Amino acid sequence: MTVRITPSILNADLANLATEVGRIPSADFIHIDVMDNHFVPNLTIGLPVVESLHRAVATPLDIHLMIADPDRWAPGFAEAGAESVTFHIEAAHAPVRLARELRAKGVRAGVALNPATPIEACATMLGEVDMVLLMTVEPGFGGQRFLDLVLPKISAVRKLVNAANLDVWIQVDGGVSVETVERCAEAGADTFVAGSAVYSADDPDAMVRRLAGLAAAGLARCRH
Ligand code: DX5
Ligand code: ZN
Repeated sequence: MTVRITPSILNADLANLATEVGRIPSADFIHIDVMDNHFVPNLTIGLPVVESLHRAVATPLDIHLMIADPDRWAPGFAEAGAESVTFHIEAAHAPVRLARELRAKGVRAGVALNPATPIEACATMLGEVDMVLLMTVEPGFGGQRFLDLVLPKISAVRKLVNAANLDVWIQVDGGVSVETVERCAEAGADTFVAGSAVYSADDPDAMVRRLAGLAAAGLARCRH
């Protein structure tokens, strides 16, 4: 299994986004948190910023939609040049149709679950997606504390993915740091969002590489 670090720019200097992305050349993707103040109590980046950033940077973009009605909005992010578009299962009206629509537009389709949402919510559609995002904080803000209660969910999704012989990435998002990344990888995660851990580090790129090293060590110990 391959480890991917997908840093979130939510806690970066948003007035200098392209420069901030340039500080982390080791990132595999740039994770962009789109919030609408309906699905989550915060308002962040929208489609025009994603379009501009796609033109300005070479790193692939991983869009995390924390919005109501992703059925309406997600395809537009695929057209804006994103490589991966993830919507929340709690918000989607027709998740299978939406995942198929995203894939038909040539992007990776991801489905996200809040901490309290059971994995059964997405278990039947694992064959329809390229990634499952398991939130390890309540979505809405960067810099929150990692929720250990999600670790068994990571293992459970990993078992389902392996049992079905699927190539579905398992992403964790929220409170991922040098303290928590190994546990996530040991449970079976292979794709790691880290926001404040990366952008509060003196050398953000060194932190990306350090997280990748720790995650690889954890994943090597994964028993599933
Ligand atoms: C939270 C966002 C996360 C957040 C991660 O709702 O989805 O991507 O930016 O930030 P940290 O790593 O600081 O928890
Ligand atoms: Zn996110």
